[in-house]
Amino acid sequence: MHKKYGDFVRTGTKKKCPKNFNALTIIRGPAGLTIFHPETLATIYDNYPFNKPAWYDNLRPYTGLNTHRSKYVHKHRRRVWDHAFTASALRSYQEVLKSKSNALDELVMKRAGHPIIINDFFYWASWDMMGQLGFSKTFGMLQGQKWHYAIQMLRKGLTFVGPYTSVPWLVRIAFDLRILPSVRNFIQMEDWCARQMDERIEISGHLIAWSVERNRLQKDLPTLYGDSIAIIVAGSDTVAHTLIYAFYHLARDSSQLRKLREEQADTDLQDFRQLQCLPHLNGIINEVLRLYPPVPTGGFRETPSEGAEIGGRWIPGKTLICAPRWTIGRRKETLLICDR
Ligand code: HEM
Repeated sequence: MHKKYGDFVRTGTKKKCPKNFNALTIIRGPAGLTIFHPETLATIYDNYPFNKPAWYDNLRPYTGLNTHRSKYVHKHRRRVWDHAFTASALRSYQEVLKSKSNALDELVMKRAGHPIIINDFFYWASWDMMGQLGFSKTFGMLQGQKWHYAIQMLRKGLTFVGPYTSVPWLVRIAFDLRILPSVRNFIQMEDWCARQMDERIEISGHLIAWSVERNRLQKDLPTLYGDSIAIIVAGSDTVAHTLIYAFYHLARDSSQLRKLREEQADTDLQDFRQLQCLPHLNGIINEVLRLYPPVPTGGFRETPSEGAEIGGRWIPGKTLICAPRWTIGRRKETLLICDR
């Protein structure tokens, strides 16, 4: 689309105004632009006036940290989440990461000399890590060497989100009717995520503790269940996907592997603070995220009512902006900005 139409592509209806605001506008969704300009991501995410559109209501009645549309509530919940990511909290997660990495290592070593589908191994490992860190619970995938039923349910459930992206109101109706099998899967997936929060601790323990201390656990349940979905969906596939592409490139380019090993020679690999200081390791991770972003598109934002400038163009108010990371990350202009 970028090659054919350029940096600014209209992908929604024309801007709403009393004259052309008609049934078609409602059915097809709000005015929308897909923007490939390299400055778009920084502008719409780091810039206070941009808002989260109705798409983020898809999980309702649950609302996790990533789906709060009110900036005030989001900022407040962000502070609650911070408790789970302090230096001491991160240190306490190291043992879990170590034991899951060792289990992964053993599994690979057992198959030495035979071809393996490493994708499965990385998914099992990242789901097991997320289960343990998020909820103090193992999904036992590395041990059992098989997929947990919840992932299949999650995948089927999430297929529902994509096609209805531009018509969030239809999602609400579909949720009430519960006729489509993919909707039933989605609801099952949400309920399963919520049950994980009920059984909890670790990251979720920090979030629950905050509500318990203030005697508002019942009131906070919809937001805690939404957070549970955030931990499960955001914390598993993203990591597996990144590992798969990193190892794909390392397997193809042994000089990178050699450099990595040299850099890590005097490092305690279990100490996250030491790992954070390795430039080549971090460079590889950043490059993989640039070339293969686990969230390749989506993450919509809406321009403020008064409009806003993006990439040197004025965009009218209440326009839905999509900035596809996959394409933007691969533009040579993006690399020039990174260098700067
Ligand atoms: C390679 C790994 C990851 C990538 C590439 C990634 C990517 C992203 C992106 C693009 C967003 C913004 C989405 C939007 O605005 O709609 C986001 C938000 C978020 N992610 Fe991740 N993520 C990763 C790992 C994780 C993990 C492990 C967790 C586990 C807890 C997590 C939890 C969250 C949360 C809670 C938010 C919302 C943050 C906020 O609104 O303040 N992510 N992530």
